[in-house]
This record gives sequence, structure tokens and C-alpha cells, in this order.
Amino acid sequence: MTESADTTPRDPDAVRERAREALLGARERTALLTECVTDGELTSQVSPLMSPLVWDLAHIGNQEEQWLLRAVAGQGAMRPEIDPLYDAFEHPRAERPSLPLLAPAEARAYAAEVRGRALDVLDAAPVHGSPLHDAGFAFGMIAQHEQQHDETMLITHQLRTGPAVLTAPAPRPATAFTGPHEVLVPGGAFTMGTSAEPWALDNERPAHRRTVPPFFLDTVPVTNAAYQRFVEDGGYDDPRWWEPRGWEHIRAHGIYAPLYWRREGGVWLRRSFGVTEPVVPDEPVLHVGWFEADAYARWAGRRLPTEAEWEKAARFDPATGRSARYPWGDADPGPDHANLGQRHLRPAPAGSYPAGESFLGVRQLIGDVWEWTASGFEPYPGFTAFPYREYSEVFFGGDYKVLRGGSFAVGPVACRGTFRNWDHPVRRQIFSGFRTARDAAPDRGGPREGVR
Ligand code: AVJ
Ligand code: FE
Repeated sequence: MTESADTTPRDPDAVRERAREALLGARERTALLTECVTDGELTSQVSPLMSPLVWDLAHIGNQEEQWLLRAVAGQGAMRPEIDPLYDAFEHPRAERPSLPLLAPAEARAYAAEVRGRALDVLDAAPVHGSPLHDAGFAFGMIAQHEQQHDETMLITHQLRTGPAVLTAPAPRPATAFTGPHEVLVPGGAFTMGTSAEPWALDNERPAHRRTVPPFFLDTVPVTNAAYQRFVEDGGYDDPRWWEPRGWEHIRAHGIYAPLYWRREGGVWLRRSFGVTEPVVPDEPVLHVGWFEADAYARWAGRRLPTEAEWEKAARFDPATGRSARYPWGDADPGPDHANLGQRHLRPAPAGSYPAGESFLGVRQLIGDVWEWTASGFEPYPGFTAFPYREYSEVFFGGDYKVLRGGSFAVGPVACRGTFRNWDHPVRRQIFSGFRTARDAAPDRGGPREGVR
């Protein structure tokens, strides 16, 4: 056995309780994100990259209706005429504000009505007998879908200008991190992906063996202070560091620093949820695109880790040879493991969360910032689209890079060691950062295994 024993509940009542908690937790956040602005703001668009918030709200309800009420429970459509409006493939984001969307009050009532019925379905639904029912998969999938849109809506909030409407306590300050700046990840085979995690989405499946060369990985994500050195060293003015497409992009768009950064009187400031503040040196850098992460790594004489390397660093336990669910083991994420779930509206200082450290000693792999990897978004060997092709399959082989680990904005149910996210390499409005890697000589891999 190479994947950890699955410790998630099988008992039907425990499955239902877990599903209920995941759904309720997501809805609490959805409510907060959509009740702190006026109806006018809910229906307007702050950026062509994002939907009006009222679209996300009704889309959350519509997906829940389609999967929990129609697919699981066999109910008829409540409002079949609205399906096309909330189909992400029929209407690109830029076009959504001009659609005849449900008004805010209607969208709220619709999502609430669907939720009420879905909880009734959950009370009675079998939690085995088909892939959609097994271990409450459809409920887990829909809870993750809402948590993903909670992150999407938080991205929209960060894009909006004007005074702050969302606040959260700052993460605990970290005692300055004094550990080694990089960790050796031993070469060799490990188990990537999962066949055991009941709510894992199709692109995380199946578990399979992967071999990676020995390599060194940054112990913590790249910080604002480190990234600022790249900026001030003329990193954005030197084509040597950039992929040609990235270079063209930053020239064409006048990009010279992370999104939301600006320099004033020799000080770097950044805007964060309506508040402009000096850039905090020891926080992981946020709002950089893949091209920027890749250029920084080249400037630093390093490279981005591949997706397989990232996952080995995050899951591999050299003592047992197994891959765990999370860096810290198989326990569900708690507040001491990682910065998840919008408890804070910023990443925690580099070196935080010692209890969330991986078996190999890598910190903050889960939560804080999504981490760009060197890899494109591709299916694992043996991939099967489930339950719909449009979640993952239609994106494979496109112009996407994989991000791993989740951000402070991701709900804990939509984040784990196997979870895969993807986006275009130019995207910077997402809560993205990165860490860097370098090759280790293969002959040094053996004796130094486990050393940190
Ligand atoms: C996995 C984050 C790329 O937001 O486009 C939400 C998640 N899929 N609704 C996205 C998703 C359908 C997806 N990402
Ligand atoms: Fe969606």
C-alpha cells in the first residue's frame, strides 16, 4: 500500500454530517461575501475577468440544483429557463453582466430554496451504490464547488476599488524563520494522485507511481522581500529572465511589479481589500503570474518545481514510503496546520504553521498562496471524466499551468495534497505565489535522504 489509509468516515450518519458541515460552512461565507455590498455592486462588474457577484450566487444554487436535486434525487428542474444563463461555457465572464440574470433578492431566494431541498435530500439519500452517491460524493463535490466560488468572489472583492467592506484578523506573527532555506527531496518513486480520497475530484485520480529526480525545494514560499530584490535588480527590464511570451506580455501591458503593488516615494505599497499599506517583507509574495514566477526563478538561478515534485514534497513520508493526504499526515486541516478558509485575508508570514510542516520539513505547502508549478494541466494515466467533462477534461492540454496547495481564500474541503488548480500563465488576480527548486546531483540523493 502506497497511499495512506483512508481515514474519512464511512458510516452513513458521519458522511451526512461531514457533508452538511461542508455545505453550511460554504454558505456562511457566501452570505458574507454577497451581503457586504449593495445590490448595485452585486449586479455590476468590477473587471471583465470576473462575473458580477450575483452571477456567482445564482450559479452556486444552479449547480447545486443540477447535481443534488436533479442528478442525485431525480427531481425535475425548478426553473429550467435559467440553466443556460448560469452555464459557464455558454457565457464567458465578460458577457455575464448583460444577461437577464436573477436580481439579488431572487438569486438569494433561489439559492436558499435549493439549499433547503438539498439538505432534505441529504437526510434520505443513500451514500453508497453509485459513484455519485458513494461516500456522499455529489454533496462533497457541490460543497467544494461553492467553496471554490467563495474564492472567486473574494478575488472579485480584491479587484474592487473603494473603501474596505471585508475585514479579518491578521494571522499570528511568526517568529523569524531560522531553519534551512531549502530541503532535499529524495529521488525515486512515490504515489501521486489518489484513489482513496472519497471527495477527490476527477483530475486528482487515479493514484499512480511517479518517479522524480532528487531535488531541492524552498522551505517556504518566496517572500515579498525576496521578490522586491528581483524587481529592484531590474528583473522586469531584462529579457534574459523571461519566456518570450511573458516578456511580450509585460512589455505590452506595462507590468513592472506584482498586481496591486505601486511605488510611492521610494516605498512599495500594495492594495489589499480596499486598504493601501506598505508591502510586508516576510509575507509570501501574492498576485504574480506564472511568467513572473518563472522569471524570478531564472533570475535566482533556480526553477519552478514540477507538479510531481511539489506533490512528492507535500505528501511523501520517507519513513513509510507512503503518500499522505496532507503534508502533516492524514488529519483534516485545523487552524494550526494552515491558513485556509478566509479566516485571514492575507498570507501568513513565511515560516508560519510549524505544525503543518511536511514529513520532509517543507512549510506552508497548504494554504497561504497558490503555488505556480512548471507543469501544464494534463490528465493522469487512467483518467476518467467524472461526473462531467467540463470540470477538468476540456481544459487538458490548453494554455494553463498547474497551481498547487490552495490559498488563504480556499475552503478546507476544497484543498488537499492532491488537489489541482490551473490557470492561464498571465493571470495575476488570483491568490497566487510560488516557491523555487533546483536539481540535486543524483549521487547525493541517497546518503542525504531525510536530512533537513
Ligand atoms: C478549478 C478554480 C479553475 O474557477 O474555473 C468552479 C473551479 N469549476 N466552477 C474555476 C470551478 C467550475 C475552476 N478552477
Ligand atoms: Fe462554477
